Amino acid sequence: MHPSGPETGLRGQTVVITGGARGIGLACAQAFAREGARLALLDIDLDALDAACATVRALGATCLPVQASVTDATAVAHAFSAIDAAYGRVDVLINNAGVSANKPTLDVTPDEWRRAVDINLNGVFYCAQAAGRRMVAAGAGSIVNLSSMYGVVAAPDRAAYCATKGGVVMLTESLAVEWGPHNVRVNALAPGYIDTDLLRDLQARGRLSIDRLVARTPLRRLGTADEVAAMAVFLAGAQSAFMTGHTLVADGGWSRYAYL
Ligand SMILES: NC(=O)c1ccc[n+]([C@@H]2O[C@H](COP(=O)([O-])OP(=O)(O)OC[C@H]3O[C@@H](n4cnc5c(N)ncnc54)[C@H](O)[C@@H]3O)[C@@H](O)[C@H]2O)c1
Repeated sequence: MHPSGPETGLRGQTVVITGGARGIGLACAQAFAREGARLALLDIDLDALDAACATVRALGATCLPVQASVTDATAVAHAFSAIDAAYGRVDVLINNAGVSANKPTLDVTPDEWRRAVDINLNGVFYCAQAAGRRMVAAGAGSIVNLSSMYGVVAAPDRAAYCATKGGVVMLTESLAVEWGPHNVRVNALAPGYIDTDLLRDLQARGRLSIDRLVARTPLRRLGTADEVAAMAVFLAGAQSAFMTGHTLVADGGWSRYAYL
């Protein structure tokens, strides 16, 4: 029995995490390792991947690093073949790789728009399809897509981010209703502001002020990557067995607050 409650059922399962080399993806890898899962981490950054796998192995879990960009459907197909060769199955996909896109819309270039769509939406689709093929054939599986609170509420200067993350919410619902009869669940996580490199980088580039974000958040703090990882474990595992097509918002109350 897990010390914090009922079994998640993740022991021995193969969990694939995209963007697993740092931030929320790495925190997820550590959380699933603690549940006894076998990990495959997919990322573009090989050095960070190797370091992440070393961290995960120190927790006693098996970890396969796979270098690939989620924007390249062929590379994604090869990555899943490598995971098949290593583990023979895919039980859980955490579709986490994503980038911020934060700029006044009138200044956004076609390349910047395409990059956000490519990574945040196309990449999520390619990986969900690759995992879904295996899960539908096996008659079981669980996919967790990383959306954002900006997939459910809008903010200025984030048209590409809001559009792609909103797309992830609807992609989640579409896949859930299509693959539900095959016992494949698809849910989404919509975090608010989480203290990661992504956020620190935006502050360093003058795109946001963390102090102002904290002051506007009802819980008066940023979230942590470990808190998001705990919800990913919940959505991936047996504790949410009757949930599919759901977007779980965890934002310290941000999106519920009609700010004056
Ligand atoms: N940090 C936040 O406040 C926050 C809030 C809501 C949602 N999210 C979402 O959570 C996810 C993770 O965010 P994070 O803060 O951990 O980001 P991060 O920048 O800390 O880490 C992202 C990881 O994805 C990898 N990556 C980037 N492009 C890739 C590609 N094309 N193919 C494979 N890997 C790629 C990076 O190398 C990196 O390891 C993203 O989808 C993000 O939009 C983050």
